[in-house]
Amino acid sequence: MTLEAKFQSQRFPSSPGRPGAAPASQPALQGEIAISSENDIVAARRAIREAATALGFSIVDVTRIVTAASELTRNIYQYAGSGTVRWRAVHQAGLATAGLQLVFEDHGPGIADVDQAMESGFTTGRGMGLGLPGARRLMDEMRIQSRVGMGTRIEIAKWLRK
Ligand SMILES: Nc1ncnc2c1ncn2[C@@H]1O[C@H](COP(=O)(O)OP(=O)(O)OP(=O)(O)O)[C@@H](O)[C@H]1O
Ligand SMILES: [Mg+2]
Repeated sequence: MTLEAKFQSQRFPSSPGRPGAAPASQPALQGEIAISSENDIVAARRAIREAATALGFSIVDVTRIVTAASELTRNIYQYAGSGTVRWRAVHQAGLATAGLQLVFEDHGPGIADVDQAMESGFTTGRGMGLGLPGARRLMDEMRIQSRVGMGTRIEIAKWLRK
C-alpha cells in the first residue's frame, strides 16, 4: 500500500473502495445545523461526533472537538439566541494533513473586545468565562471575527496530523 493510499483510507475509512472521493460527497463529513434551542446543541454534538469519528480522529481528539463545539454552540444560544454551526472535512494542499473545520455564525450582539473575551474567567453572563479559551486550547486553530451589533463568526479546526 502506498503512503498516499494508506493516508486516503485513513481519511475516509467508511469508503475504502473510493479513495479519491471528495469530502463533499461524504454526507457524514459535512453538515449544518441551525442552533436555537438546547436540543439543537445536543443534535450538533452528536453529528459532529459522528463526522470526527468518520474522519479518523482518536477518541480523545473526538472528545476535544465535541467539547469545543459544545461551548461555541452554547455561546450562540446564550448570547445571540440563534445561529448556525457548519462543519466539513478539509485537506491542506501540499501537506499530508486532513482535518475538520467548523464555523459558528450568528447575527447576535457581537463581542466588543475579542482579546478580553478570550481571557480565562472573562464573562458578561453567569458563566465561568472558560468557553472561548477552552475551545482555543482544545483545537489546533481558532479565528474569531466579531462586530458589535452585527454578529460573530468563529472558525476552528483540528488536523489529523501535524
Ligand atoms: N456568540 C457570541 N456572541 C456574543 N458574545 C459572545 C459570544 N460568545 C462569547 N461571547 C462573549 O464572550 C464572553 C466569554 O465567553 P466564554 O464562552 O469564554 O465564557 P462564558 O460563556 O461567559 O462562560 P462559560 O462558557 O464558561 O459558561 C461571554 O461572556 C460573552 O460576553
Ligand atoms: Mg460560554
